[in-house]
Amino acid sequence: MEPVLDTGVVVDCVLADGHERTLADDVLDGLTRPLKELPPKHFYDTRGSELFDAICELPEYYPTRTERAILDACAAEIVATTGAGELVELGSGSARKTRVLLTAMADAGTLQRYVPVDVSEAALRESAARLVEEYPGLRVHGLVGDFERHLGLLPEPDASRLMCFLGGTIGNFPPGSRRRFLRGLAKRLGTEGHLLLGVDLVKDPLMIEAAYDDAAGITAEFNRNVLRVLNRELGADFDVDAFEHVAFFDTEREWVEMRLRARSRQTVTVPALALTVEFAPREELRTEISVKFTRSRLEADLAAAGMELAGWFTDEREWFATALARPI
Ligand code: SAH
Ligand code: TRP
Repeated sequence: MEPVLDTGVVVDCVLADGHERTLADDVLDGLTRPLKELPPKHFYDTRGSELFDAICELPEYYPTRTERAILDACAAEIVATTGAGELVELGSGSARKTRVLLTAMADAGTLQRYVPVDVSEAALRESAARLVEEYPGLRVHGLVGDFERHLGLLPEPDASRLMCFLGGTIGNFPPGSRRRFLRGLAKRLGTEGHLLLGVDLVKDPLMIEAAYDDAAGITAEFNRNVLRVLNRELGADFDVDAFEHVAFFDTEREWVEMRLRARSRQTVTVPALALTVEFAPREELRTEISVKFTRSRLEADLAAAGMELAGWFTDEREWFATALARPI
């Protein structure tokens, strides 16, 4: 807990040591499985967050600019429907698109508080500082934490909470955990609250694969950055350049998978865990999935989580959708 001056910004930081412990647990769990795997939240150290911002500007990465255009078109309607005075944002990152929602709330005269939640402390503090300058009178109450573990630490919802989870990040959960996660969110909305979800939609696999494997190699660098995190935080000795970036669309499961493939045999030690990990030549480590949705898949997920669709906004080409949901 760290209340700060009277700048309008309060940031609660619940990570530090606890976070390093989950990194260690996740690495021990994930790297000793038959199909090696790491959860995506460990991508986002300061450099990882910067690389992700660069991905959002890439010509191939259509989700960010498509979602922004959708929000530009529907933000006023969403604010009118929900009467939102408080915006909670999960995985807020640099909060660029968030401004569209905050501006619509300010224009409607309802804007009171913004509550960003992110594991990346640097990104959260920087965006909080900017936003209180841009929106006079705005209070920011940030939570540097893990949205899978720390939502119990959010301030109590007021009657007009709008919780948003943009960028298609909901797609980074596998289907079972996704529904459990959504059920948890429904409980944090309060009786009159709403959830705004950005979901990437099923489309031409080649277009999806290009978005996760850009020509400039920024996504590859972002993917490999997780190995640098392990080297720094756990003293591992990954030869980062010995791993290549792989992205492919699984047409049956309708998700894109990111992997790191060992170019040759690798032996990696992780002293903090007294662990030695072998990679056979071409063996792959899965670092992320990103599920692509249809409207009916999302409706089924929401129903399973005790919510229903209250609005569905999409671009002309139906590449991406912004879904408004409310508890039933
Ligand atoms: N909302 C932004 C960023 C999306 S990238 C956009 O739409 O462009 C995903 C964001 O979620 C990153 O900022 C990352 O740091 C954060 N994140 C990922 N896993 C998280 C977790 N388990 N808990 C909290 N934040 C997480
Ligand atoms: N939430 C983003 C997505 O699913 C994260 C992301 C974009 C990502 N590009 C990536 C994660 C490349 C790993 C590698 O679109």
